[in-house]
Amino acid sequence: MKDFVSTVKENKAIADNIYMITLTLPEDVGEVHGGQFLNLATGDSSKLLRRPLGIVKKTGLDVSVCYQVKGAGTRALTGAKAGDKLRVLLPLGNWFDLDGCKNVAVIGGGVGIFPLIAVVSELYSQINFYSYIGFRNKGAMCLTSELEKSKKLTVVTDDGSYGEKSNAVAAFFDDCKNIEYDTIIACGPPVMLRVLKGELKNRGIDKPCYVSLEERMGCGMGACLVCVCKKSDGSNARVCRDGPVFGISEVEL
Ligand SMILES: Cc1cc2nc3c(=O)[nH]c(=O)nc-3n(C[C@H](O)[C@H](O)[C@H](O)COP(=O)(O)OP(=O)(O)OC[C@H]3O[C@@H](n4cnc5c(N)ncnc54)[C@H](O)[C@@H]3O)c2cc1C
Ligand code: FES
Repeated sequence: MKDFVSTVKENKAIADNIYMITLTLPEDVGEVHGGQFLNLATGDSSKLLRRPLGIVKKTGLDVSVCYQVKGAGTRALTGAKAGDKLRVLLPLGNWFDLDGCKNVAVIGGGVGIFPLIAVVSELYSQINFYSYIGFRNKGAMCLTSELEKSKKLTVVTDDGSYGEKSNAVAAFFDDCKNIEYDTIIACGPPVMLRVLKGELKNRGIDKPCYVSLEERMGCGMGACLVCVCKKSDGSNARVCRDGPVFGISEVEL
């Protein structure tokens, strides 16, 4: 993990309220895997804490992340222009480790698709991916073309403005009998992961399932304990350092 001053290469809207920002690093950070994230300054010096964002793509010295405008920090980030300097700490956290997997079901909701795109882009030549992606509506859809490397791609929206009126978890369970899969990976809002965990239990599906958690974060590197989550065995884990990817049965959701 290194702390850099990066140069903004591009910062553009890719969907309603969602932007992609590409940063050029001053030196290479080596391999980055889907699920890892970076901690990015917002460009507003009154906001000391950096914002955690999943790494979508790394090409040479260029690293791209996508962000939904949520609060003051991400709003400030929309003002970053090509040539601006932003501090960034990366790569952070663990990743979706799919060693030995052959057929993987991918379940992504909203901005949760970004780390999953990195996984599919990195491993599609070795693994068959079956992707089930849900957005609020058509206007929130983005980067689905990046998931076309999946063997099968199903995109749904909450309001039916694109694809079926459904959500990513329901779309997966509607189709899971038709596909061969040995592992599930998922990222999305906490409620989506809770429903996924409950449904897997109800249906007696005990295939390995890995989820990436989103907790409020401070330091991003294990020191402040802002991001602590409860594990199923009663112990605590730091999402930034021990995660963000966990086995679904390992954590309380
Ligand atoms: C590992 C990880 C990866 C993430 N990847 C993405 C991504 O790829 N794209 C994306 O749009 N969002 C992602 N998020 C969520 C994103 O970090 C928050 O939406 C963002 O920090 C909100 O900042 P804000 O200043 O706009 O909001 P505010 O509410 O003003 O933020 C105040 C403080 O709370 C923290 N905070 C608020 N919401 C969250 C949250 N959900 N998760 C973590 N910290 C939060 C902020 O970092 C900041 O320190 C990720 C979160 C985590 C933990
Ligand atoms: S954010 Fe500080 S310990 Fe995780």
